[in-house]
Amino acid sequence: MLLGVNIDHVATLRQARRTPYPDPLEAARAAALGGADLVTVHLREDRRHIQDVDIPRLIDGQSLPLNLELAATPEMLARAADWRPPCCCLVPERREELTTEGGLDLVRGERALSAACERLGSLGIRVSLFIDPVSEQLEAAAALGVPTVELHTGRYADSLEPAPREREWLRLREAGRRAAELGLRLHAGHGLYAEILKPLVTLPNLMELHIGHAIVARALFVGLRGAVEEVKQNMVRDPP
Ligand code: PXP
Repeated sequence: MLLGVNIDHVATLRQARRTPYPDPLEAARAAALGGADLVTVHLREDRRHIQDVDIPRLIDGQSLPLNLELAATPEMLARAADWRPPCCCLVPERREELTTEGGLDLVRGERALSAACERLGSLGIRVSLFIDPVSEQLEAAAALGVPTVELHTGRYADSLEPAPREREWLRLREAGRRAAELGLRLHAGHGLYAEILKPLVTLPNLMELHIGHAIVARALFVGLRGAVEEVKQNMVRDPP
């Protein structure tokens, strides 16, 4: 199973003072040393963390494939078309939110998303759609012809008690099964941290995890390379 390390919050720290440091490119290189398989950034409309100038540097200046998260707006799609990162994940975005609070509504937003997926796909970019673990969203994703979905794990991660977390895990498992039936490649992410990965990585057909905030936070104490290593260790599936 692959790990995409989201380094947005390295840039959050930089933007807090508008300093040249810490550099997301250096973070990407450290993540690679820790065993990351991809590096992920979300270029938000309000540019609260990652900036446009970061993107070409991250595509050309380090060894990992870049996964660019973006809202399907004309501005962002034009930038993605210029930069052509290997992977793009379309996400919903609201200016006032602290973080991406839910998945895309593929049923309602079908037309705009279909055009966005087609445009990015035609440029050879691997397109993924960030959705809640709900059958009708998975079915809509398959109908759009995208290769990949990323399931929003926020509710799983935010459930602190065993019973609600188990319920959320079951929802994710059901969604994982449906994704497999529909021939969709399965990713998951949001709100995850090392200690809650063991049950999650038993999800059938899960190919990739995307984790950011917790890794950057943990890096304060063990360094970014060490924080990535800890996550990778917790992604190992126990033998059956
Ligand atoms: N996956 C997607 C699609 C996201 O939008 C985010 C947050 O940018 C993440 C994963 C990572 O979430 P977190 O920072 O909570 O680990």
